Amino acid sequence: MSEMAIGMVGLGVMGRNLALNMEEKGFSVAAWDAWPEPVDRFIAASAGKQIAGFKDLEAFVKSIQRPRRIILLVKAGEVVDKTIAALRPFLEPGDLIVDGGNEYYVNTERRAKELAAVGLRFFGMGVSGGELGARNGPSMMPGGDRDGYKELEPILTKIAAQHPDGPCVTYIGPGGSGHYVKMIHNGIEYGDMQLIAEAYDVLKTLGGMSNAELADVFDAWNHVELESYLIEITAKILRKKDPDGKGDLVDMIVDATAQKGTGKWTVQEAAELGVPVSTIATSVEARELSFARTERLAAAKLLPGPDPAKAPALDAEGKKRLIEDVRAALYAAKACSYAQGMNLLRVASETHQWDLHLGELARIWQAGCIIRAKFLGRIKAAFDRDTTLTNLLLDPSFRDELASRQDGWRRVVAAAAMAGLPLLTTGASLGYYDSSRRERLPANLTQAQRDFFGSHTYKRLDKEGDFHTEWSAT
Ligand code: 6PG
Repeated sequence: MSEMAIGMVGLGVMGRNLALNMEEKGFSVAAWDAWPEPVDRFIAASAGKQIAGFKDLEAFVKSIQRPRRIILLVKAGEVVDKTIAALRPFLEPGDLIVDGGNEYYVNTERRAKELAAVGLRFFGMGVSGGELGARNGPSMMPGGDRDGYKELEPILTKIAAQHPDGPCVTYIGPGGSGHYVKMIHNGIEYGDMQLIAEAYDVLKTLGGMSNAELADVFDAWNHVELESYLIEITAKILRKKDPDGKGDLVDMIVDATAQKGTGKWTVQEAAELGVPVSTIATSVEARELSFARTERLAAAKLLPGPDPAKAPALDAEGKKRLIEDVRAALYAAKACSYAQGMNLLRVASETHQWDLHLGELARIWQAGCIIRAKFLGRIKAAFDRDTTLTNLLLDPSFRDELASRQDGWRRVVAAAAMAGLPLLTTGASLGYYDSSRRERLPANLTQAQRDFFGSHTYKRLDKEGDFHTEWSAT
């Protein structure tokens, strides 16, 4: 076989599928894994294809045409460092490594610097879409130097999900910006998932709806403004029967959500840059609260409050109204979440001088990735209309949409609060919305307290300067 067009390191689910996708689009792939079994399986499964599997790292590297393009799809963190260290002796100046995992962008920047010092190029590329996305067309977020992108572009544009607005990949920016953008994508993903879970809980617990009825509602929502991959799979999940014959599978699943870190990093970054991300932050906390299941089960016996399951039953008309209110709440809360994520990206872009194009990011999230949604076309349009938009909610079309939905949103949050049903994230979004639009917040009192106990000073409304008061003096 002549020299291979690209190398793939790591033959787990993502690596395997991305390699098959590249081969199908006409690029020959050299593949290597640290373990022999995945290599054997991959070779067996790719007979007749332009794929060569290797167990020997040097032979793998030598088989790739120069300057080499090598994609890593291995576990984030230490494994990436070890893999790079193993590859390095065989690489030559100008070779380009692309880390396609969910890596913390600070690690990506460190590696790019270390490798640049020896003439090697390093890209951090977010890849979204899971197994099927990798195989059929993911959304990809590559960050690194622009010349390097030119060498990757012919492959990436072909293997990406294809949307009428173009392939779902773009040059994100320099440094760790590719992984940063993927991190925010995942923060938004956490928010979307929690908002959907809360909508499900309200309709099931307060609306008394069955899983089959709920699946019909989510199916219907997938044909209106809420159309999205996560809504689509929610309907499918709700219809799935338990293979052990114990009713609907969703009812048999333990209510404890795990996480790998990208949501947490989004919140850490937001705190670092002083950008409020209430929806995303509470979606991470909702996972933490769910995961502390043993404590929750104990507290459930001790902490008093209304039992949401005992909320008065709704008649058909009441159910219909509730469905419409939840639909409004879900959309409005989701808009707040995207506003927060985009805002964080805007500030990060200014801070790191990445020159991110928010409309372009919304464009490449329209297909292939987990947060793909019809609504992203509207976000793209908002940032295309006004590239200096400081908050998505200020775009006239989003402003109108939130205005028309807020009554329903408020009714859902209030009804849930009275019934003792937690809407941590839907409620936090509403708090974010109301805080963002309130002329005077109670921060005057907080400032006074800071000055009282720590002489931190305060500003006055009626004159310039910093003031301090001896609050205890009579
Ligand atoms: C994607 C997903 C993917 C993965 C996350 C899940 O865009 O394809 O985000 O990257 O599912 O790592 O993260 P948690 O395990 O933290 O939920």
